[in-house]
Amino acid sequence: MSAERIRDARAEGDALLRLAGRAPSAHNTQPWRVRPVGTGEYELGWHAERELPVGDPTRRDLFLGLGAFVEAYLIASAALGVPLRVEPVWDVERRVVVRFVPTGACYPTAFTAADLRGRRSARGAYVPGELPAEVFAGAAAALGGVGGLWRGGTRAVAPLLDQADRWLFGDGEVVAELRQWLRLRGDRGLRADGLTGEALGLSRVEGRVLDAVLRPAAYRVLRPVGLARALAASSRGVLRYDGTVVVLTAGAGAGSAVPSAAEVLEHGRGLFRCWSTLARHGYATHPLSQVIDCDLTAQRLAGMVGARPLAVFRVGRPVHEPVRSVRRSD
Ligand SMILES: Cc1cc2nc3c(=O)[nH]c(=O)nc-3n(C[C@H](O)[C@H](O)[C@H](O)COP(=O)(O)O)c2cc1C
Repeated sequence: MSAERIRDARAEGDALLRLAGRAPSAHNTQPWRVRPVGTGEYELGWHAERELPVGDPTRRDLFLGLGAFVEAYLIASAALGVPLRVEPVWDVERRVVVRFVPTGACYPTAFTAADLRGRRSARGAYVPGELPAEVFAGAAAALGGVGGLWRGGTRAVAPLLDQADRWLFGDGEVVAELRQWLRLRGDRGLRADGLTGEALGLSRVEGRVLDAVLRPAAYRVLRPVGLARALAASSRGVLRYDGTVVVLTAGAGAGSAVPSAAEVLEHGRGLFRCWSTLARHGYATHPLSQVIDCDLTAQRLAGMVGARPLAVFRVGRPVHEPVRSVRRSD
């Protein structure tokens, strides 16, 4: 390959990654690893050090996030006029999931580069009100037959979130892992991944307080005297308004078979199309994965929705414009 063609290929790979890198991932770990292989092909895998082995031991969120990235990559390829299709690989030993392969025509999608750049998670206050039925129907249609979408009222799910938050903040190992991805001290060098105080909707003071109480020494002292309850109580307002919670489900029935990694990845693609559709209508999403991470609340949620939940999030119009989250590829 000539030096010029190598430069072009590199520029293409960089442009695809910059755009697709706007995909969402749990704790903003951005676990994806894209490697050019062959002529115009890209292999997608993940970085072991960007997994969440404590909080996400089944790799549900890992594969949902990688699925979202696959969809974002295909949308980016269409937006940039690079005709690519996706082919499964599934080599878990090498941590490789799919390959993007040159093909005859661009990926057919309604989404654009502006959609990739515009979608955001929002964790602050939402304007009260239910998600309109036609917007929900559009989000459900965007799944394209992968899984199901349930919707319910925020207040009905609020007790589950309280219980899940107490579980989350009461588990020292989950908290230690979460701390690794919190960027609450405003250190610029550490700001290309993880969750900044701004992204979490915290004021500077709130960010400092959270940082202080989750430090191992403080946490050890404060946990026995009710830290988990206090932190859960501080986020109690999250679902105490009249709004909508949406659940992405796998299969039919609460006891349906555990989906394979490849199936979870497909659900992640659907989830991303669903979030992007909502974003187009001006609705932001706030995932509440702890409700599924905690076994007890996952069972209660499965009973409520009548199927196996894979992702749960509130949806609404944010009162304040949500911040643009950081990326390693920006
Ligand atoms: C599978 C998955 C699970 C997530 N779980 C949570 C969660 O439990 N709580 C939360 O606040 N955000 C959650 N998020 C949102 C990410 O933190 C967010 O996508 C990331 O910080 C990047 O920000 P952005 O979505 O605004 O681009 C989740 C995202 C994905 C893809």
